[in-house]
Amino acid sequence: MATIGVFDSGIGGLTVLSEALRQAPAHHYIYLADSANAPYGEKSSDWVANRSLDLCHWLVREGCQALIVACNTATAEAIAHIRHEMPAIPVIGIEPGIKPAVTKSQNHKVGVLATQNTLKSDKFKALLDGLDHDCELITQAGLGLVPLIESGALDSPETEALLRQHLSAMQSASIDTLVLGCTHYPFLAPLIRKIVGPEVEIIDTSEAVVKQLCRKLEEFHLLQSAPPRIIRLYSTLDADALLVHAKQLIPSAFEQHTVETSTVFIS
Ligand code: DGL
Repeated sequence: MATIGVFDSGIGGLTVLSEALRQAPAHHYIYLADSANAPYGEKSSDWVANRSLDLCHWLVREGCQALIVACNTATAEAIAHIRHEMPAIPVIGIEPGIKPAVTKSQNHKVGVLATQNTLKSDKFKALLDGLDHDCELITQAGLGLVPLIESGALDSPETEALLRQHLSAMQSASIDTLVLGCTHYPFLAPLIRKIVGPEVEIIDTSEAVVKQLCRKLEEFHLLQSAPPRIIRLYSTLDADALLVHAKQLIPSAFEQHTVETSTVFIS
């Protein structure tokens, strides 16, 4: 039986947990939101790498046998380090879906909205260098969006104004494909759709990440868990707020799993 740990700087990774519960519901899950320290996207690389490793150690001590780094920023800054420290555990990361985007784009103009740290990371540069494409990529750091999402301001005038500002260069370039390179941003999908219109394809990589999780669970012989299946939701700031977001985003989880919540301090 498998317990899978999923972590993010905050509530963003719930978008990945939601997909994990859709594709691989027969497991126990521990979700850890480091909301006391969000956003990661503007912190130093060393800080993000060290903190991500600490959280992974904590999840393993809680019994996790596989980990999803449900944060593009932590994946960019820390995944190599985590895999090096934990060779016996499958560790799945997430990165902006540039590959599917450049394949899908018809007019060869692709927008990438991600955190500042993701965009300036070596991993992102390596991702771009490894792709053979003739697309124009318009990248934009989503500065200020994560704190608004964490506070629940998913359709406030302030969020809309900031998002319009961040998307304006992409719109001027007439992108037909937009990559959401931060797991928090799918929370803004309705607002993004309102701004970019129905024609732009929006790419979120959660589905591909969970497919990779399923392959790894098989490879590591991690079996499905017997009922009752449990989801433990932990926040370093406010477990009640995390629960509210989880209930809104993944109501079905509460039918299939027993959900426990707790606020934790992780030093
Ligand atoms: N959800 C995160 C990501 O995918 C982190 C956002 C942040 O904390 O800045 O990059």
